[in-house]
Amino acid sequence: MKNKFVVSALMIILSIGLIGCSNSSASENEKTLVMGTSADFAPFESRNESGEIVGFDIDLAKYIADELGYNLEIKDMKFDGLIGALQTEKVDMVLAGMSATEKRSQNVDFSTQYNHSGEMFVTNKDANIDSLEQLEGKTVGVQLGTIQEEGAKKIQEKVDFKMKQVDTSSTLIQELKTNRIDVAYMDKAAAKGYIKEQNLGGFEDPTSSSPGMAVAFPKGSDLKEDVNKVLKEMKESGKLEELKKEWLEDLE
Ligand code: ARG
Repeated sequence: MKNKFVVSALMIILSIGLIGCSNSSASENEKTLVMGTSADFAPFESRNESGEIVGFDIDLAKYIADELGYNLEIKDMKFDGLIGALQTEKVDMVLAGMSATEKRSQNVDFSTQYNHSGEMFVTNKDANIDSLEQLEGKTVGVQLGTIQEEGAKKIQEKVDFKMKQVDTSSTLIQELKTNRIDVAYMDKAAAKGYIKEQNLGGFEDPTSSSPGMAVAFPKGSDLKEDVNKVLKEMKESGKLEELKKEWLEDLE
């Protein structure tokens, strides 16, 4: 009687121990994919009312992680810190509406492109600024580390305006609405969202020729090929189109 009790107690202890072990084993940890993003960029990534990060890139990343059998962990950081986070391998990949530029390709690897938007100049509704020439003498805001920051510098060679760099694209819109800048230069899909939601004005950049958005990885990462396979499958099955419809269509 007594022995039976001891044996079953031991078995219970043993199995609890085993469960504990398997939960914290290294292989379990390896199955988590850490993604870096900058959640200030609706409809690609932004926080909803409950503080959750949602958007096109988030659904895309979840799908990719799922297909490859990983858990997804999201790290929210400033856009201009994302390349550094990849280089120091603090994150395994970045989805942040990041355009796959030649310059960035020197420091990180990119997947195949999954979306392309272009650029827009966002203004207050009554601003009467609707061409590049009219930027003359104005203050144009850009998000730090973006291709729009680089692009604005190029346009400055032809049109004389002041540039103001800020950390996040939400700050950019704040600056515009409080008249600290006259124009916000940003990604077209993000711009269209703000224009609609906050009743702003704006015009498309006639000169923009930026590359499409892609997933970024540390240089030499094996993950790139796996992700490319999933992207290819998503393009063929119509899943990518479905996500675009869900998040981007109203803005086109
Ligand atoms: N497409 C632009 C770039 O790659 C802007 C991306 C901004 N992304 C963000 N999550 N704030 O530079």
